[in-house]
Amino acid sequence: MNRVFGSWRKKRNSPESVHPDGENIPKHVAIIMDGNGRWARKLGMPRIVGHRSGMKAVKRVTIAADELGISVLTLYAFSTENWKRPKEEVDFLMSLPTEFLAMELEELIEKNVQVRMMGHTEELPEHTIAAMEEAIERTKHNTGLILNFALNYGSQREITESVKEIAREVMEGKIKPEEITQQMIGSRLLSGGLPDPDLLIRTGGELRLSNFMLWQTAYSELWFTDLYWPEFGREQLFAAVAEYQNRTRRYGGLS
Ligand code: FPP
Repeated sequence: MNRVFGSWRKKRNSPESVHPDGENIPKHVAIIMDGNGRWARKLGMPRIVGHRSGMKAVKRVTIAADELGISVLTLYAFSTENWKRPKEEVDFLMSLPTEFLAMELEELIEKNVQVRMMGHTEELPEHTIAAMEEAIERTKHNTGLILNFALNYGSQREITESVKEIAREVMEGKIKPEEITQQMIGSRLLSGGLPDPDLLIRTGGELRLSNFMLWQTAYSELWFTDLYWPEFGREQLFAAVAEYQNRTRRYGGLS
């Protein structure tokens, strides 16, 4: 099958204005990919054209994250609130992971990328689950970049479910309420096992978290850009990481 994205080959010596320091690369970068619709409207195109272009940005940013040596890239591809959109748009958004993986899985495997998914899978269409499961299965032994798709993901729901699970264990007498720890809640979240994001990026000019990784981003550095997601790429990721490297993270303490 022809890939629409071109090759994975790293673009060396491209004229980006900043190059992050090879030290202090954030382990986990999470991105709220916003602005596909507005980008398309700016061009007088239907919203789905924006989403398709957003898929190309996913490819670009995955390559750039791999190049930088980031360990985990989490992409907010569909929220639990996105079901409120017209059915046509929802169906299109659900077809994108399937389309992306049909085109890119072989190359992701070759590049040692491990695909993961974080979300409430039970409501996803069969074809989306099947494509994700195949990708997860075929890349599970890969040791490079973890490409984590947040699909039908909602942070308040994941926290609620974690708390419910703990409540059940309390009822069954397995743990006492006073034994509940932050770690216990965190490890039952959908991101369980992944480090918390060091850097959270949001495109599209909005300054909010939109129910994304609310627990896990307690101490993430935030980076916002007015650029729409289809305009985002290697140069912007590098700029965000370079700025991250200039921040002092105190975690509530003193520097
Ligand atoms: C929000 O911007 C974006 C989304 C709800 C979808 C994001 C999905 C992608 C970028 C493609 C994902 C690709 C793969 C392979 C999973 P918006 O469209 O609501 O933009 P707007 O705020 O301008 O209307």
